[in-house]
Amino acid sequence: MEKTELHVDATCFLRKTYKIPSDVDKLSQLAYKCDMNTIILYATKYGATRQIAERLAEKMGGAIMHDLRQGDAPSLDSFEFVILGSATYAGSIRKEAKTYLSRNACSLLEKKLGLFLCGLEEEKAKENIKTNFPQELLQAARAVSLLGGVFDPNKASAPERFMMKLAKKHEGYWNTIDDSRIESFVKNMKAV
Ligand SMILES: Cc1cc2nc3c(=O)[nH]c(=O)nc-3n(C[C@H](O)[C@H](O)[C@H](O)COP(=O)(O)O)c2cc1C
Repeated sequence: MEKTELHVDATCFLRKTYKIPSDVDKLSQLAYKCDMNTIILYATKYGATRQIAERLAEKMGGAIMHDLRQGDAPSLDSFEFVILGSATYAGSIRKEAKTYLSRNACSLLEKKLGLFLCGLEEEKAKENIKTNFPQELLQAARAVSLLGGVFDPNKASAPERFMMKLAKKHEGYWNTIDDSRIESFVKNMKAV
């Protein structure tokens, strides 16, 4: 199987491709067997963070992807590179990402780590990175960046559309996902 064929959600990967139960330990064993050395953990509401995670996976040369809303993440033992990213809402990352970071800081410190935000507020990116990711992880990470975001009025709720309008951010569809930043993020991750 090609490495690139494994750019799939962890649970689907196990259930559909290998027809085995969704078992997080089996996932790390499989990753090890397939020589898959990157895992991307992400927390999304409407899917933009997953889109970024998919592009990162492709540029990393293949990765196991895990949606933090879908329960326990697999053990990090067999992975050399770990990338964690979350959508930003009202200045905060998703609660699943917060919980994961606080419970797994020690294991993350042992990895080649990348942290990213998905969001639209360029001017607050530095502040949002500083307030949402633990200081020790920011210092240890090889790559830290805001990689852009998407606002789709057709997916957003009425209050969300209202809030975006109030903040004078945007009214229509807006996509700032930035491929050149994704590329330099991956370059930093792989730097020797
Ligand atoms: C109500 C609301 C609040 C938002 N707050 C922020 C914010 O504080 N900072 C930011 O950079 N982007 C903010 N955004 C933009 C989202 O981060 C962006 O739409 C992102 O792509 C969402 O990711 P997701 O599709 O993975 O959930 C906000 C969007 C909405 C609808």
